[in-house]
Amino acid sequence: MAEKLTVEVRLKREIDDSYDIRIGENLFPEVADYLKQFQLGSRCAIVTDSNVRRFHAGDLETALKQQGLKTDVFSFEAGESNKTEDNCTRIIVEMLDKGYGRDSVVLALGGGVVGDMAGYIAGKFNRGIPFIQIPTTFLAHADSSVGGKTGVDIVIGNGDNQRVLKNAVGLFNQPKRVYIDVETLRTLPDSEYKNGLAETIKHAIIREKDFFDGIEENINLLVQRNSIVYLEIARMNCQIKAGVVQIDPNEKGLRRILNYGHTAGHAIESLSDFRLSHGESVSIGMMIAGRISRDLGYFSDRHLERQERLLRKAGLPVTIPINIFNEDIIELTLKDKKAKGGKARYCLPTEIGKMHSFDGAYVTYVDKEVVLKALENTR
Ligand SMILES: NC(=O)c1ccc[n+]([C@@H]2O[C@H](COP(=O)([O-])OP(=O)(O)OC[C@H]3O[C@@H](n4cnc5c(N)ncnc54)[C@H](O)[C@@H]3O)[C@@H](O)[C@H]2O)c1
Ligand SMILES: [Zn+2]
Repeated sequence: MAEKLTVEVRLKREIDDSYDIRIGENLFPEVADYLKQFQLGSRCAIVTDSNVRRFHAGDLETALKQQGLKTDVFSFEAGESNKTEDNCTRIIVEMLDKGYGRDSVVLALGGGVVGDMAGYIAGKFNRGIPFIQIPTTFLAHADSSVGGKTGVDIVIGNGDNQRVLKNAVGLFNQPKRVYIDVETLRTLPDSEYKNGLAETIKHAIIREKDFFDGIEENINLLVQRNSIVYLEIARMNCQIKAGVVQIDPNEKGLRRILNYGHTAGHAIESLSDFRLSHGESVSIGMMIAGRISRDLGYFSDRHLERQERLLRKAGLPVTIPINIFNEDIIELTLKDKKAKGGKARYCLPTEIGKMHSFDGAYVTYVDKEVVLKALENTR
C-alpha cells in the first residue's frame, strides 16, 4: 500500500483590523492629507456611481491632486441592480489598463452599493489592496460603511425562475479608515434619507435607550434634515454598530441583532417589487418583530407603542400595504437560507435598547401561527 504523507502548513495569524471613523464637514482635504502621510498607495482609484460622480467625485479628485496624488475616477451606473460581479470585474480591468498595481488604494465614494462593491474590488485586486470608505448616503453613514461586509448580488436560475441573491458573494474586508463627511447629505434625495432614518431608529432600539430618548427629543430636527444633528447622529450610529461588530465581527451571535426588522422587512421589500424602500420595509418589519416579541411575552405594550410612535413621527410606515398578503410574506421568509424546519428566524427586543440573547444566538425560530397573528395585527 502506498505510504501517506502529511506536510503541515502553519499559518496562525494575528490580525489587527482596527481603524478610525472620522466624522465632520469638509473632510476631503483630510482624506488627501492622510493618504499622503501614510502612503497607502501611490495611485488612488476613486470608485463611485454615476450620481455621486456628478455631485462629489470632482471635489475629492481636486483635494487629492492638490496633495500631488495620482488619481482616477472609476464609475458604474447607480442602482442596486448594478451591484454585480461584472461591474467589479470591469472596474478591475480598467484599473489594470491604467497601470494600477499593488501600490494602489481604493476610495469608496458613495452609498452602500458603492461601499460594498469598492470594498470587494479592493479585496480582490492583486489579492488585496487597502481601501477607504467615504460614505455619501445617510444609510451608509449610519450602517453600511462600518463593519467590513463587502460584496455583490448574484442572479441564479433562468427564465421565470430567475432570482437575485443579495450579497451572495463577498468578503469580510475592513477599510483602513472611514470618512463621514456630513456635507455629502446635502445632495441626497429625501427618499434615500429615510433609509438612514429607519436604520438609526433600529440601532437605538437594539442597543441604546438613551439614543432612543435623544431621537425622540430631536425627531423634528431629524425629519426636517437640520444639519445640526448630523454629527451626533452619525457618531452614535457608528458607535453602536462598531460596538456590536467589535464583539462579533463574523456574525456568529450578537451581530445578528443588526437584522432587527429585516426578516419580514426583506420579504415585504421584495413583495412590493421594491416600491417600498429598504427603510420603509424595515420599519414595517420592526413592527412585525416587535409584535411577535410582545405576543411571546418578551416585549411590553408600552415599549411597542413607543417604537410605533417614533417610527410614525419619522414618517415611516408601520402597517403592511393591503396588496401584500400574509401568506406570501411567510412563504418568502421561509425561503431565506437562514430559515429552518418551516420556521423563520427573528431577532426580538425585550425593551427599548435591548435584544433577547437567546443564549448567545440572538435569534429564535418563530412558529408560523405566531408570525401570522403579528402580521394580521400590523394592518
Ligand atoms: N456592508 C454592509 O454592512 C451593509 C449594510 C447595510 C446595507 N448594505 C448595502 O447597502 C446598499 C444600500 O445602500 P444605499 O441605501 O446607500 O444605496 P445606494 O448606494 O444605491 O445609494 C442610493 C442612491 O443615492 C444616490 N446617492 C448616493 N449618495 C448621494 C448623495 N450624496 N447625493 C445624491 N445622491 C446620492 C446613489 O447614486 C443611489 O442612486 C445595499 O446594496 C445593501 O445591501 C450593506
Ligand atoms: Zn438594513
